[in-house]
Amino acid sequence: MCGIVGYIGKTKAVDFVVDGLQSLEYRGYDSAGVSTIIDGQAVTTKQVGRVDALRVELESLSINKTAVAVGHTRWATHGIPSVNNAHPHFNSDKTIFVVHNGIIENYQELRTMLQSKGYSFVSETDTEVIPHLIDLNLKTEKSFQKAFEKTIEELDGAYAISALHVSEPDSLYVARLSSPLVIGVGDGEHFLASDATAIMDRTKKVIYLDDYEVAHITPDGLKIHNIRDAVQVQKEAELLDYDAEKAALGDYPNFMLKEIHEAPQTIQSAIRGRIKPEANTVKLGGLDNVMEQLQFIDRIVIVACGTSYYAGLVGEYLIEEIAGIPVEVQLASEFKYRNEPFSRSTALLAISQSGETADTIAALKKVESYGVLRLGIVNAVGSTIARMTDAGVYCHAGPEQSVASTKAFIAQVTVLTEIALNLSEGRTPLYKPLMKELQALPDKVKQIFESDGDIEKLAHKYKDYVDFLFIGRKYGYPCALEGALKLKEISYIHAEGYSAGEMKHGPLAMIDKQFPTFAIATDGELLEKTVSNIEEIRARKGKVVAIATQGNKSVAKVAGDVIYIPETLEQTQPLLIAIVMQLFSYHVAMAKGHNVDRPRNLAKSVTVE
Ligand code: F6R
Repeated sequence: MCGIVGYIGKTKAVDFVVDGLQSLEYRGYDSAGVSTIIDGQAVTTKQVGRVDALRVELESLSINKTAVAVGHTRWATHGIPSVNNAHPHFNSDKTIFVVHNGIIENYQELRTMLQSKGYSFVSETDTEVIPHLIDLNLKTEKSFQKAFEKTIEELDGAYAISALHVSEPDSLYVARLSSPLVIGVGDGEHFLASDATAIMDRTKKVIYLDDYEVAHITPDGLKIHNIRDAVQVQKEAELLDYDAEKAALGDYPNFMLKEIHEAPQTIQSAIRGRIKPEANTVKLGGLDNVMEQLQFIDRIVIVACGTSYYAGLVGEYLIEEIAGIPVEVQLASEFKYRNEPFSRSTALLAISQSGETADTIAALKKVESYGVLRLGIVNAVGSTIARMTDAGVYCHAGPEQSVASTKAFIAQVTVLTEIALNLSEGRTPLYKPLMKELQALPDKVKQIFESDGDIEKLAHKYKDYVDFLFIGRKYGYPCALEGALKLKEISYIHAEGYSAGEMKHGPLAMIDKQFPTFAIATDGELLEKTVSNIEEIRARKGKVVAIATQGNKSVAKVAGDVIYIPETLEQTQPLLIAIVMQLFSYHVAMAKGHNVDRPRNLAKSVTVE
C-alpha cells in the first residue's frame, strides 16, 4: 500500500518520479506528492486524488532541471486523504522531506515526546514524526546519515522510507523493514521505488534492500548499512526479467478487462516448459533444489490472503485428491497469531500475487526458526516472498495492475495443479488427463470470451440487487467464495459465498425474491445435490443464475438464467468458472459506473497489517 518513487542523477528527476507514481497508483490513490531541490531550495507539491492532478500542478510550475526528487502516492491509514496528510512530510524548517510506506507503531509516543520538545505537527499521519525526529537527532549527531540511522532505529513497525535533506542535494537516504524497496542502477543515476514496475523501463539492473538495511544513494554509487548487525553490506545488482510491455493498457478500456482477457496466455505461460505430456513429466524448476526434502513432507499448510487464499482452497482439493498429501489452508492474518503444533515434516506454502502482502510475509517469518520448508507461489519476480522462501514456482502472469485480482488467480490455480501433479509423482490416474486438459484450457477460455455478450446482458439484469449469494460444492466451493469477493470489491454489492451444502444450515433464511443466488452447477459427482439446492432456492422465490457445463440439460430446467462453460475435468473447472465470475462482476461494476481498476477504499499490495 502506498507507492514510493525517487530519483537522483542528472536531470528530470520530477518527471521520472511523477511517471513512476502513475505506474504505482494501484498501490494507493488518495493523494500524491513530490519534493525536489532546485538551486538549493526545496519545492514540495501535493494534491488530493490521483497522480494526474499532481502532474497538472507540477506542469504549471514549469520545473525543468531537477537532479533529485522523492514522491509518494498514498493509501490513507492515519488521517483522511488531504493535502496536509499527503506525503512528503517535512520538519518545521522545511529542510527534511520524507516519504513512507507502512506503519510506525510507536508514532503516538514519538509525537508526544517531540511535542514536549516544541515540535508542532500539521498532519494526522504517523509519518510526520520521522522528519521531526531526524531534525531532533541532527542536533546531536555529526551527519545527516547518522541522524537518519538513529531515527530509523527509534521506529517500531513496518516501513520503507526515503528522505531528502536540502543541504545534501546529491544524496537520497532510504531504509526498509518489512516493506518493499528496490533501487534501480543507471548510468550516473539511481532510481528508487517500492515496486520494480516504476523503474523497469529505465533500467533492468536492480538492488533489493532487505530488512534493517539503510542506504545512502548518490548519482554514482550507493552504500548499504545493516543497522541491526552494524555492518556494511555489499550487493551486486540483479537483472530484472520483467517485460515492460505487458503493463501497457493497449486498446482495452481498463486493466481489469485486459487482465481477464490475458487468461489464455496466463495459463500458457504457467505451463510452458513445465507440462510435458510427450515425456509424461511435470517439471517445476523452482522446486528442483528441494525435491529431496519434499519426499519427507506429510502435510502442507497454505497461507495467503483474499483471492490468493481462495486459490489456496482450490489447491487444497487438488493436492489432496491428486497427490494424496493432507493440506490445510489458513488466512495468513490468522496463522501468524495462532499457536499451533507444527512438525518439521510440514511445509508452509505461501501464495501471493504481489509477493509483498504483510500478513503473508509475517506468516513466513513466524516459522523462520521452525526449520520447516517454506515454499512460495508468487507472481511478482524478485518480491519479498519470492526471496524469503526456500523454493517456489513463479506464476509468470506478468504485472497485474487492476486492484481486483483476476489473471493472478488463474495462474495460481494453474500452478497449484502443476504442484499437485508434480507431488503425485505420476501415481494418480489423473496425471495424463490433467496434463492434456491444461494444454486445452487456453482455447476453452477463449470460447467463454465468445459468450461475453450474454454474460454482460445478465450482469445488466442483476446489477441493481443489493445482495447476492454464491454457492458451490467441492471445487465449486472456493470458486463461490472468490466469486462473492470479486462482486463485492468492484461493484460494492453485498455478496456472500457459501458451500451449497450449507444452505439448509442457515443461509436459506436470507432467500427471497430480492436476494439472488449465483450457483456453480457444473458437471461433477455432486451436480444433482447442487440442482436440489437450486430447486430449494427457487421454491422460496429466489432468483438463480447458474454456471453449467455445455451440453447439460438439467440445470436450465431449474435455474432462471444459465451461463455455460466448455466441458472440462472437474479439477480444471475452477479456471473456467473464475473467468465467468470475473466477467460477470466486471460488467455489473461497469454498468454501475464504478472505476473497476481502482475500487473505493482498496489498494493493491496490502503491505500493512
Ligand atoms: C482481491 C484481491 C486481494 C488479494 C489479496 C492478496 O481481488 O486482489 O484479495 O488477493 O490482497 O494479495 P497478494 O496475492 O498480492 O498477496
